[in-house]
Amino acid sequence: MDGKYIGKATPRVDGRKIVTGQAKYTHDIRLQGMLIGKILRSPHACAEVAAIDLGPVKALPGVMAALPLAEGKLRYAGEQVAAVAATSEQIAEKALALIKVDYRILPAVVEWEKAREEGAPQVRDGKPNVEKFNQAARGDVEKGFKEADVVIERTYRTGFEIHHPTETHASIASWDGEALTVYDSTQNVHGVRDGLARALKMPAANVTVIKNYMGGGFGSKLGLNAHTVVAARLAREAGRPVKIALSRRENSLCVGYRPSSCQTYKAGVKKDGTLTALSLVNFASGGTGYGDDVSEPTVDLYRCPNVKAEEFSVFTNTGASRATRAPGHTQAMLGLEGVMDELAAAIGMDPLELRRKNYSTRNQGDTGLPYSTKGLDKCYEAGARAIGWERRNKRPGEGTGTVRRGIGMASSIWWGTGAPGTLVDLVLYPDMSVEAVCGTQDIGTGTRTHMAVVAAETLGLEPREITIKVGSSDYPWAPASGGSTTTPSVAPAVRDAALKAVERLKELAALKLKAKPEEIAMENRVFSVKGAAVKSVPFADVYHDLRRETVFHGACVEYPEDRYAFNTFGAHFAEVEVDLETGKIRVLRYAAAHDSGRIINTQTAESQVIGGITQGLSAGLFEERVMDSTTGRPTNANLRDYKIATSLDIPEITTIFVDVVDDRLNNLGAKGLGEPPRIPSSAAIANAVYNAIGVHVREIPMTPKRVLEVLKRKEAGS
Ligand code: MOS
Repeated sequence: MDGKYIGKATPRVDGRKIVTGQAKYTHDIRLQGMLIGKILRSPHACAEVAAIDLGPVKALPGVMAALPLAEGKLRYAGEQVAAVAATSEQIAEKALALIKVDYRILPAVVEWEKAREEGAPQVRDGKPNVEKFNQAARGDVEKGFKEADVVIERTYRTGFEIHHPTETHASIASWDGEALTVYDSTQNVHGVRDGLARALKMPAANVTVIKNYMGGGFGSKLGLNAHTVVAARLAREAGRPVKIALSRRENSLCVGYRPSSCQTYKAGVKKDGTLTALSLVNFASGGTGYGDDVSEPTVDLYRCPNVKAEEFSVFTNTGASRATRAPGHTQAMLGLEGVMDELAAAIGMDPLELRRKNYSTRNQGDTGLPYSTKGLDKCYEAGARAIGWERRNKRPGEGTGTVRRGIGMASSIWWGTGAPGTLVDLVLYPDMSVEAVCGTQDIGTGTRTHMAVVAAETLGLEPREITIKVGSSDYPWAPASGGSTTTPSVAPAVRDAALKAVERLKELAALKLKAKPEEIAMENRVFSVKGAAVKSVPFADVYHDLRRETVFHGACVEYPEDRYAFNTFGAHFAEVEVDLETGKIRVLRYAAAHDSGRIINTQTAESQVIGGITQGLSAGLFEERVMDSTTGRPTNANLRDYKIATSLDIPEITTIFVDVVDDRLNNLGAKGLGEPPRIPSSAAIANAVYNAIGVHVREIPMTPKRVLEVLKRKEAGS
């Protein structure tokens, strides 16, 4: 691949449209006669609904539909109870206040530590609040601990982190007879279509879901949301389109969050750095849903013969958690990479050396397969060089003064291999215009741009010449934009279609040039026969011979996952400053190195990395949903009290992509990058803080209070 665009920096093809406000987000959609829908939500963490009186609401002028929604027991504050659609937002709000609900309040538990206690209110009927949901084992950990020179046991905790996309969730439903069109702020137009069809008991063929532009989702918009079904039901009852846009408060209550974790590791190591045993017990809390599996990196990342992991979900009366950018692995790295650093200190070894010493070239989980490619060693090297690894404290906390500096790192392992079966139609017109059509969605990542880059590169055109059509369930199938899967699913399908188009164009050129198709070269917007400079024909003439628009079908195909393990890797390095008097942490510099296969567009890839680090820093230092046991509600269901990082908190970031092309995976050798930069970022900062102050905080967010507490414990010598 020559790479005029692929592997280079291309600005977003829709960048101008986005920054000038011309791009239509779901919040911007206004349909003729559109009503505003609002949902009444339970104020109680657990209650039974004895009666709902919608009478006074239906009598209110401007209210066009009202529905009871509560089914059985309400299990968290924020669960939907009833809904209205009205001609204005004000009337809808007024109507909600008129709904009379007779609640029978039941005992609830909203804090996971309390849910574990004897006699705690049962969250799920007839089932305990703690349930084992995952386990893994190989070798014999007890034997491994006996073989170790040093064994340490440590517990790391991660808090509840809310997705808080810039654009809150929104759905607009509109019926035309039996056909339903829904504009939805979603990561998954096809999934929402199928979910709506099931929920409304109607054929999927009669449902179209559209998402043009979107302000992020991070997992909270991966599938059908409850309010989307409500919008469709209200619209059917009212006979008019209905829009439901969730408030920031609703985003804090009912569309998920990253579940907490409490990970206890026991790790054994020989003096030379050889890992002999690793065990993990995790308690994860995901409200009325399950927690995340955090054990995969423990099982897979480091060469270790004896491993054991057990994971438990703790159920509470809070809304169900949801996949959040790199679910599980993000939490896991605080623990696993924390314990690696604490092990390194215990044997007086460079933490990066310890990781290299236990480097694995094959999957150590169930498959045991060799990695098709693994550039983690290259990430270690490039990242260490970029941050100036040799400047770190050789012993954690060896500096002096009241403001301490430290450097730390953490690794990433993830999937991101793409979905075979992803389809793209590439349409070539006789006037030389080209469009690429795919039922994927650009969730803010730059999907349109990478599609244009791959099509342009292959066809010998420029990215701005390719019209991109995405974001409709009527377009050819593509997977949800989640799991770092979009680029390795869509880009190979675009490439496939474009290669087929080039083949056809060469056939047409060959007719004109009286040559064989395989003799035709394509360069500088002409087709020519090699060695005969005069024998050439411009692109325009050959496209003209297509006579009418011609569709080339491309697909993402299967890869040999029975013979190789396919993963993405990365290593992040952070330099921090910790004020021992205030407990405040400042991140000074950051370097991120990634192996995500071939990078299609370095500009949008860099944006992903910066975004992942920003979120990781934010979760590492600030973000935490806090539940109030008295009210059963979050105390910080807004962006004033729920703190997130701002631009002032973000340091200079160096982004490195190591050059590892995985040709076994797809026709571009490209892998995903959406989640990987989120995986090691909080952990790298936590390890840098450890290097600075000589004691690991072991809990995120690392608020000043927590930092001061661990410093006090260190001083007391415990
Ligand atoms: Mo992601 S949590 O796969 O949107």
